[in-house]
Amino acid sequence: MPSVPGAVPERPVPTGRVATKAVIPAAGLGTRFLPATKAVPKELLPVVDKPALQYIVEEAASAGLTDVLLVTGRGKSSMVDHFDRRPDLELQLEAADKKELLDAIRRPCELASIHTSRQSEPLGLGHAVLCAAAHVGRQPFAVMLGDDLIDERDPLLPRMLELQAETGGIVVALIEVSRERTSLYGIATTSPTDQEDIVTISGLVEKPDPDEAPSNLAVIGRYVLPGEIFDVLETTQPGRGGEIQLTDAIAAMAEAGTPVHGVLFRGRRYDTGDRQSYLRAVVQLACDREDLGPDFRKWLTDFVGGGFGSGSEGGS
Ligand code: G1P
Repeated sequence: MPSVPGAVPERPVPTGRVATKAVIPAAGLGTRFLPATKAVPKELLPVVDKPALQYIVEEAASAGLTDVLLVTGRGKSSMVDHFDRRPDLELQLEAADKKELLDAIRRPCELASIHTSRQSEPLGLGHAVLCAAAHVGRQPFAVMLGDDLIDERDPLLPRMLELQAETGGIVVALIEVSRERTSLYGIATTSPTDQEDIVTISGLVEKPDPDEAPSNLAVIGRYVLPGEIFDVLETTQPGRGGEIQLTDAIAAMAEAGTPVHGVLFRGRRYDTGDRQSYLRAVVQLACDREDLGPDFRKWLTDFVGGGFGSGSEGGS
């Protein structure tokens, strides 16, 4: 049933069905990384040797989400190419017997079926999610923001998907942040449940100043939402920063009685959203790699200790 402005949002009911689709908003201009992002989508910047977006699609696939919708914008079609076959390159690698590289370029194509929807104007995260309505339909789905990488050793999505299938409502991922950082996140009003890592959420506010933040529990870029959210997004008015905020639509549904829960995430997470965090993510992930880590760590220790200068060879 289409909703009308001011109508009470329809209250979703648990269906026991686990979401199978993931929506990845990826229409942004990546201005924080210019000039690198002038012709290359931010989502394809490498984190070590793999585009940030591939980490996200891998995470989706390992949680059983094999239908991925990229909400894209102008000039970003190379994101789709990354998940498509490259027969010419495959032939060359085959001829040169480069088996590992061949596997590496085929892997992205085997993860999920990739679809796209265009967000023609940058009207906010809520608006980007609304661009997925036709593809998703009325079923529950996950929203995964590309700036947040979750370490594969600390899976988060499976717990969220399971909880959403039980409640039929909304599940977000929360981390604890320091008070000064509340203005960077959606912040939740919560109460405990009988499960140590799950809280009930009664309110959410987008990027509050520290003295107005209801808690220090911040939403990170993983959501599992019921299809009813689209009705609410259609009537959600621009909020913080003049943008249609997903946070506001979730808060409206909480207020109208939809169960909203937060899964407290205490695992390893890497932010690639700005240059400082991106650099840290690359270093952390490189240190952890079996193939690169041992040599790189050694070099890094010497470098930080002032050993190797910028002119040194320092390995390959
Ligand atoms: C978005 C959401 C915010 C959330 C954050 C997580 O903000 O609007 O509520 O806490 O993602 O990364 P953005 O970082 O896109 O400004």
